[in-house]
Order: sequence, then C-alpha cells, then structure tokens
Amino acid sequence: MSKVTVVGAGNVGATCANVLAFNEVADEVVMLDVKEGVSEGKAMDMMQTAQLLGFDSTLVGCTNDYEKTANSDVVVITSGIPRKPGMTREELIGVNAGIVKSVAQNILKYSPNAILVVISNPMDTMTYLALKSLDLPKNRVIGMGGALDSSRFKYYLSQALGCNANEVEGMVIGGHGDTTMIPLTRFATYKGLPVSNFLSAEKLEEIAAATMVGGATLTKLLGTSAWYAPGAAGAYVAEAIIHNQKKMIPCSVLLEGEYGQSDLCCGVPVILGKNGIEEIIELPLNEDEKAKFAASAEAVRKTNAALTEVGAL
Ligand code: LAC
Repeated sequence: MSKVTVVGAGNVGATCANVLAFNEVADEVVMLDVKEGVSEGKAMDMMQTAQLLGFDSTLVGCTNDYEKTANSDVVVITSGIPRKPGMTREELIGVNAGIVKSVAQNILKYSPNAILVVISNPMDTMTYLALKSLDLPKNRVIGMGGALDSSRFKYYLSQALGCNANEVEGMVIGGHGDTTMIPLTRFATYKGLPVSNFLSAEKLEEIAAATMVGGATLTKLLGTSAWYAPGAAGAYVAEAIIHNQKKMIPCSVLLEGEYGQSDLCCGVPVILGKNGIEEIIELPLNEDEKAKFAASAEAVRKTNAALTEVGAL
C-alpha cells in the first residue's frame, strides 16, 4: 500500500492532493491542515468526485492529527503563507521557517522513513531548513521548484512555437526566485531540435524573462500565489518517487561540490526514484551559465543566512 501525505490544505496543497488522487499515484492520500474541518471538507468533496472521475485512491482529511499521516512514503509540505502581489518569495521566511520546521518534525515522528517534498516558500531555503534541522540524508529532502519553473518554461516555449507543451523539452535550474532561476534556453528542444532553429534569440530572451517572473505574473493576476501548477508540480515529483520512475527533474537538492557549490539546496537536474534523489546530473554549462548559477547560489545562500537571524537554525 502506498501513502502520500500533503501538509497544508490551502490552494496548493488541495490541488496537489487532488492530482495525486485523480492520477491514482498512491492508494491513500492524507491532507492535514491546522484549520478545523478544512481538510476533512476538501477530502470529502474530492471523494465525491471519485465516481465521476473514475479513480480508486482514498482521500483522508484531518486537523493537525499527525497520527493519521503515519507511515507515509512521501510527504509534500505546502504549509505557510503565500506571497501577495509585490512581495518576493524571500520575504516569507520569517513566518514560514517556524511552520515548516515544526511540520517536518511532527511528520518524522510518525513517518520516520518518509521522503519530503517541499513546496513552501522561499522553497530552496525551506528545503535546506528541513534537511538541516532534522539531520536527514540528502536523498530524502527535495524542493520541487525546478519542476514548476520548467513546466512554466515549456508553457512559454510552446506558446511561441504554437505547439503543445508536451512537444517541448526544457529545464530551469538555480534558485526558485524571480531573479535567481536560470531557464536553460541552450538545451531546450522542440521534438529534439534546438528551439533556436525555430525562434529568434530575442524571442528566446523574452521567454526566459517571462519564465523567471512566471509566479509573480500570476500573483498579480490572482491577488495571491498560483496553485494549479505548483500543486501539480508537487504531485509530479511525488509520483516520480512513488512509482520509481527514474525521471530527470530539476529539483532543489543539497549540493556537496556539484556545480561548484556546497552546503546549500539549489535547483539542478536529478534522477528521482523510490529512494528520492538517486543521482545528481552535472550539465556541461558554458561560462555564462556557470556565472549565472554561481550568482543564483549566492542569492540562495544569503536567504539561508536569514534562518539563523529568525532563530530557525
Ligand atoms: C509560484 C510559487 C508557488 O512560483 O512559488 O507560483
């Protein structure tokens, strides 16, 4: 029996749980929230779609009852506050650090072997916090930012190419921040052909810029942070683990010398399978991409330093 817990039944968490159940990623999907009745209600509402949508997974909601999450294989952490228009993800650290730390501690009490997928922002720093404060092996703590940012990159590419996003390959590495993410245009392809065969350098720059502020664009439109793609990205990462898919997905992981960095979590392509992170893939970056990665890592490091200031580490 496979079991996934989603902590936080807000927009992102509920979407993630819904995708997990609809795609029958796990036999049981537990949603936990601090707000009385919310996850129970959402779980019941989703269960009432089971017949309409034809899925067999069971959804369970609970209010802060960690016992219900016991023996989860994967736990997706979405807890914390989302950003409002004009805010950066980094500004959320003061509130979210305490929440993510205590959630991760509670989860581990009942699921000591769980693999954690972190969505809460600032995502790279929250991933680092979960890893460091719980002293977990690095294969078991994964930030999902790169999966989301790469999906947005493929969306913008597909819009410009006039094709379905599934026809496009592309990865975004670096930090999950408006100025820190690095869409790897040079490696992006349309049916295996470089996208530069189809789109001008100017257009590709525009696409990279739109990808970087993809989350902020939606926050402005919605008045709060996006949820469909962030939730689906969490489910996509969880699925790769639960189904041992060995997919290559850019995720925020602890670097120990890879890409010239150590002691920080930042987005790089990894192979995901039943053990979580099974391999870190080192890309042959050129000088420009290397410089961008170093700057991105530096920015993430600066945000991590705030963990000490807020007393979380
Ligand atoms: C976003 C938030 C979830 O990028 O970070 O939409």
